[in-house]
Amino acid sequence: MANALPEPPPYFDALLERLAAGDPEATAAFGRHVHWGYWANPDADPGTGANYAVAAEELCRRVCDVAPVRDGMCVLDVGCGFGGTIASLNERFQNLDMTGVNIDARQLARAAETFTPTSGNRVAWVEADACALPFADAQFDAVLAVECVFHFPSRAAFLAEAARVLKPKGRLALSDFVPTTEGRDALRKYDNGGTETRDSYGLVNVLCAEDEYRELARAAGFGVPGFEDITPHTLPTYKFIRDTAARWQGTRATAYTRATRRLEVSSRVGWLRYAIVGATRAA
Ligand SMILES: C[S@@+](CC[C@H](N)C(=O)[O-])C[C@H]1O[C@@H](n2cnc3c(N)ncnc32)[C@H](O)[C@@H]1O
Repeated sequence: MANALPEPPPYFDALLERLAAGDPEATAAFGRHVHWGYWANPDADPGTGANYAVAAEELCRRVCDVAPVRDGMCVLDVGCGFGGTIASLNERFQNLDMTGVNIDARQLARAAETFTPTSGNRVAWVEADACALPFADAQFDAVLAVECVFHFPSRAAFLAEAARVLKPKGRLALSDFVPTTEGRDALRKYDNGGTETRDSYGLVNVLCAEDEYRELARAAGFGVPGFEDITPHTLPTYKFIRDTAARWQGTRATAYTRATRRLEVSSRVGWLRYAIVGATRAA
């Protein structure tokens, strides 16, 4: 019997509800990508809704560039959300064999509904856990994971699965919250965000510092990963998320606002970094 999948993060309930109702604000902001984004001019941009979708597309492209994805590749997008990364690849490349994986059948249904392959590209949407991928060994040229690894039950298990399904010299590219070592110790004291984080964002593990990440990647069969700290380019998102939570005022709005505030403060004091990570599977 197959193992039960982990529960999807709670914030997707509100998102799916608003998207199903055709809410124009939710559709413009979160209909494609659901992540922190990369704000090109963070000092000049106060975090407006109009620019959020632009920032989100920019982060997606930067992660894809770290692979880098090229025409004709076989690409796995893990934790694929509503399929925004796959939609972006579809618009920019041809003859891709793409697979989107998610634990949430509702998100996959929306991805399938809103996506039309072009330019010889193909796609499969697969309901599965990132830590138990239902694919053969050495199947993919690139594995992408945009802002989802901190939700997974185990980074070690995910990295081992990513290495297994990648071809030799295949590339892993992801974005993740990576604390400094001092930040990790401080965040641990705060119980990783506590119940407010669990009630709003679900499972969030932001306790894997660079040294541990390197060790997990090595143990999984990757070369030394590269980390690009893009924290300053994510900061306007906090205002945008705060404003959105205040307007939406759902049952979890307070927990959501407090949990977001913790991430923001941790990022602003330098405990937590937002990083784009790239690693090559050993030959
Ligand atoms: C912040 S969203 C990012 C979505 C997408 N990558 C994007 O950039 O728009 C996190 C995603 O990870 C998915 N997820 C969480 N845990 C997962 C797991 N164990 N296996 C696969 N996907 C998972 C969630 O359902 C959600 O789609």
